[in-house]
Amino acid sequence: MRVVLLGPPGAGKGTQAQRVADALSVSRVSSGDLFREHRERGTELGRLVGTYMDRGALVPDEVTIDMVMDWIDDPDRRRGFVLDGFPRTLAQAKALDGRLGRQEPIDTVLYMDVSVEELTRRLTGRLLCRECQTPYHESFSPPSREGECDHCGGDLYRRTDDMPEAVGRRIEVYKDQTEPLVAYYRARGNLVEIDGQGSMEQVADALIHALRQGGAAPTRQS
Ligand code: AP5
Repeated sequence: MRVVLLGPPGAGKGTQAQRVADALSVSRVSSGDLFREHRERGTELGRLVGTYMDRGALVPDEVTIDMVMDWIDDPDRRRGFVLDGFPRTLAQAKALDGRLGRQEPIDTVLYMDVSVEELTRRLTGRLLCRECQTPYHESFSPPSREGECDHCGGDLYRRTDDMPEAVGRRIEVYKDQTEPLVAYYRARGNLVEIDGQGSMEQVADALIHALRQGGAAPTRQS
């Protein structure tokens, strides 16, 4: 099964992606995590994307598409996958459709909707593990030990793009460039809207329930 998690910054895509992938027994990837790994390793790509990420802008399509397509091309992904944060523009969505072709289209797009006030609360309190990228929140899901990841013991840090100014910019960019994908996938018949406003457990249950119900009927490209 091939699933896309779609939603604004802070909707909970990263929090839910592993649960959804585990439920489907497939791999998952976050384009944001891949970029952050490049930045941590100090690669040329990491230096390039840093200038966009820190100011809350999108990384250019050609760079992003190449990186995610490389991930999708791994033979392990033939069983399916969960994409978190990709596609994020119409050009990316069309490139993905083109690569998957008619035989293996995206089955379900899970669209997580959350109010701007709640997004801001979530992002400005977020902490992230430097090693395994697990997200925490200082109030809603604090780690057992301050500053330390429950899963791997890695250091927790705040993303530079979670500062209030960058958060506002990211939400604007989302509305301008990513929200049109809701209509794009709705027209294809494979969009399922989930209320992302509830607790993490409620949202997880709603996502898994939607997938068990078959999500939406897969739309084969004609
Ligand atoms: P990326 O890392 O993808 O950031 P994002 O889409 O802005 O999403 P976030 O990671 O901020 O939010 P999320 O929905 O995953 O929420 P989370 O689960 O962490 O991208 C970063 C940057 O990389 C972009 O700005 C861009 O520059 C670049 N980029 C990435 N992909 C790109 C692409 N395809 N094209 C171009 N550029 C790209 O949750 C947030 C917080 O809320 C956490 O603290 C969590 O604990 C808490 N929380 C989650 N769910 C709940 C809940 N139900 N109740 C209470 N708290 C909750």
